[in-house]
Amino acid sequence: MDQIHVEGGVRLEGEVQVSGSKNATLPLMAAALLGEGPTLLRNVPDLADVTTLLQLLRTMGADAERVPGAERHVLRIHAGPDVVPEAPYDLVRRMRASVLVLGPLLARFGRARVSLPGGCAIGARPIDQHLKGFRALGAAISLEGGYVEARADRLRGATVRFDKVTVTGTENVLMAAVLAEGTTVLENAAREPEVEDLARALTAMGARIQGAGSDLITVEGVTRLHGVEHTVIADRIESGTLLVAAAITGGDVLVKGAVAAHLDAVVGKLREAGCTVVATPDGLRCKGPPQLHPVDVQTTEHPGFPTDMQAQLMALLSVADGTSVMSENIFENRFMHVAELRRMGADIRVEGHTAVVKGVHTLSGAPVMATDLRASASLILAGLRASGVTRVARVYHLDRGYEGLERKLQTLGARATRVK
Ligand code: UD1
Repeated sequence: MDQIHVEGGVRLEGEVQVSGSKNATLPLMAAALLGEGPTLLRNVPDLADVTTLLQLLRTMGADAERVPGAERHVLRIHAGPDVVPEAPYDLVRRMRASVLVLGPLLARFGRARVSLPGGCAIGARPIDQHLKGFRALGAAISLEGGYVEARADRLRGATVRFDKVTVTGTENVLMAAVLAEGTTVLENAAREPEVEDLARALTAMGARIQGAGSDLITVEGVTRLHGVEHTVIADRIESGTLLVAAAITGGDVLVKGAVAAHLDAVVGKLREAGCTVVATPDGLRCKGPPQLHPVDVQTTEHPGFPTDMQAQLMALLSVADGTSVMSENIFENRFMHVAELRRMGADIRVEGHTAVVKGVHTLSGAPVMATDLRASASLILAGLRASGVTRVARVYHLDRGYEGLERKLQTLGARATRVK
């Protein structure tokens, strides 16, 4: 298994291009199932999760491929009328976002059978809110043998109030509602930029949607959708990770393509920590201070501070000149990186869903191992600052969400290498 070795102590400088958003791409790929013609997605990141979903779409009988010659960044997806609307356990267990095919399959084919995703490293992550939405739209749902089976000849518009803000839940029910008969209102909807990007693509496919990006989305159902050509938004979590890489090394980096409007909370916290962050016509530029300040952070739904940046910011705050308090409010069990950061010399205490991070003067390189995607990124960031070499094992987690992170860091001067 690959490892990434990071030799710390280099101040990062220069420009780096951010990739397309993973969390926008996955629902867009599922949405392609709704179109009667082919869909072309551009600016798709080259990641293992995208490969898994392509494989799932092909298993169901859709044409789904990376367009040759486009450096794996363009996908073509076409689902004909003979698609078999079933997603087997084998693929769903590799990536829980596979559950996003449920809404589109149900809406277009009147039936879907999708394996339940099960738990994952960062908590139980149920899909009860997705199912609540489909039921409200008139679907009959049964759970049998580890599979969700949903049926409806034609979904009917309804008001769905989510008990909890859920990103993929909002996306899944939105994709079902676009082909339902009549009006659907989604209350307490997720406001993430990825939901907005999905709504933009669906609208270009012929859907009638208002309010995406707010917590109240209204959909007028239509009878059919066509394919679309759509460019995926930039990945705000990768952008944020690269900004922290600049900050933690006291460097000066322009993250090209980063969208300031998607990163308000992250930029706000970086500024509180003493960084200079400016929006330029090309992206966001971050300059790290000689000494970082402590910052208190609470993860919340967008537009609040994203849970997907919590581990990376913790690496940064572990070398600030004081004590920071970080609360994780979205997922239980999302502090697995703490034990590894401590092995590098960080002083962090966890109490329930709160981590108290007492800044230390230096971190030291160590062999470490990550158990989830963002945790791996946080260890690489800590490695950039640490003395000596940090060896990060199990980088397949990192590869699920970052396209060539070590190569991007190298272009900024980092001594980060992948070791087979
Ligand atoms: C998405 C992102 C993930 C991010 C998360 C929160 C994708 C592919 N993944 O995950 O990177 O960390 O949003 O920003 O976009 N919940 C329920 N019932 C449900 C659904 C969710 O109780 O039916 C709970 C979850 O357990 C969790 C919280 O709601 O505690 C938020 O989860 P959700 O927004 O659904 O996360 P995902 O969409 O899975």
